[in-house]
Amino acid sequence: MDKLIITGGTQLSGELRISGAKNAALPILAATLLSEEPVSVGNIPHLHDITTTMQLLGQMGIQLTIDEKMNIEVDSSTITKYEAPYELVKTMRASILVLGPLLSRFGEAHVSLPGGCAIGSRPVDIHIDSLRKMGADIQVEAGYIHAKASRLKGCKLVLDKVTVTGTENLLMAATLAEGTTIIENAAKEPEVSDLAYFLNALGAKITGIGTDVLTIEGVDKLANKDIHYDILPDRIETGTYLIAAAITRGKVKLKDTRPDTLDAVLDKLVEAGAEITTGDDWIELDMHGKQPKAVSVRTAPYPAFPTDMQAQFTAMNCVAEGVGTITETVFENRFMHVQEMQRMGANIQLESNTAICTGQKGLTGAPVMATDLRASASLVLAGLAAEGDTLVDRIYHIDRGYDHIEEKLAQLGATIRRIPR
Ligand code: EPU
Repeated sequence: MDKLIITGGTQLSGELRISGAKNAALPILAATLLSEEPVSVGNIPHLHDITTTMQLLGQMGIQLTIDEKMNIEVDSSTITKYEAPYELVKTMRASILVLGPLLSRFGEAHVSLPGGCAIGSRPVDIHIDSLRKMGADIQVEAGYIHAKASRLKGCKLVLDKVTVTGTENLLMAATLAEGTTIIENAAKEPEVSDLAYFLNALGAKITGIGTDVLTIEGVDKLANKDIHYDILPDRIETGTYLIAAAITRGKVKLKDTRPDTLDAVLDKLVEAGAEITTGDDWIELDMHGKQPKAVSVRTAPYPAFPTDMQAQFTAMNCVAEGVGTITETVFENRFMHVQEMQRMGANIQLESNTAICTGQKGLTGAPVMATDLRASASLVLAGLAAEGDTLVDRIYHIDRGYDHIEEKLAQLGATIRRIPR
């Protein structure tokens, strides 16, 4: 397994281009299953999860072509199988996103149940129950979801919890259903909206985009021709590089991003003492060489503070002035990074779903590892602020969600290198 070695202590500065959003690219690639015509998707990030999604579609018999600019053209007319096998689902839970489109367009789907996860139990009951309400016949047997429907029927769905991939699965299922579907308590994450805009470009009729009530008028088919769609920039990658600059008291300008998707994160960075300047598609952060101030955050669905950014803020609080609390309300077990940061000398106390971080001037480099994507990224950030070398193991988690992280950090002046296995 590859490792990253980081020699901390350098103040980062420079400019970076932000990649397309992983969590928009995955549902949008799944949604290409709904189109009768070939579709081209651009601004695709260079990530393991994208490779896995291509394998997932490829093993169904779907034709994919990718060019040197990471535009992927998908032609689903060659499909021969309606299955997401365990071997792929176990490496990427987001494979569940093929359930809605397969069922709605082809009337059949066999998708392995994702099972447990490092950050919590993460059930998919809302996906399954809601599709049943739309008329699907669903059996869960031997670890697989077997779903059938002659044609799904539109209805009103009130989701018990705000679920991102749940909303996305139902949105895709509803596009080809008979009649109108209303999804209440829908997730409002920008990635959900990006999927909805993509579906509308294919010919779907979705309104209420960006709100918690989505209305989908079912159509017979999605057959718009010559569609090319560019994926939204990654707000979590953006936030991670902003912290990389803040934690090292540096300055960074991030381009090709969307400041309007990061309000809660930018507010907290200002509270931490950063000077933030934004344009339509760029963000600049300047710490003016100062130590950040500790901040308190509470995660919740968008537009509140994102769970995918709490580990990175925990890292910053460890080297900040004062005491900050990080409260996680979305997942029950998302503090994998805490013990590893403690091994680097961090002063963090865990009390149920809250991490109380007492900041200090520095951390000490150590060998560390984590079992999920954002926790692993937060250890890289801690390493940037630590004295000496930090060796981050199991970085395949990082490669799932960060496009060329060591190259991008090196571009900002970090001393970081990959040690191949
Ligand atoms: N939940 C249920 N039942 C369901 C679905 C969800 O109880 O049927 C619960 C979950 O257990 C969790 C909460 O609802 O407690 C929210 O989970 P959600 O379904 O929104 O999460 P997800 O769709 O599986 C996506 C992102 C995650 C991100 C979360 C929350 C993708 C591919 N993944 O997951 O991203 O943390 O939303 O914003 O979009 C990451 O990128 O590192 C990552 C984990």
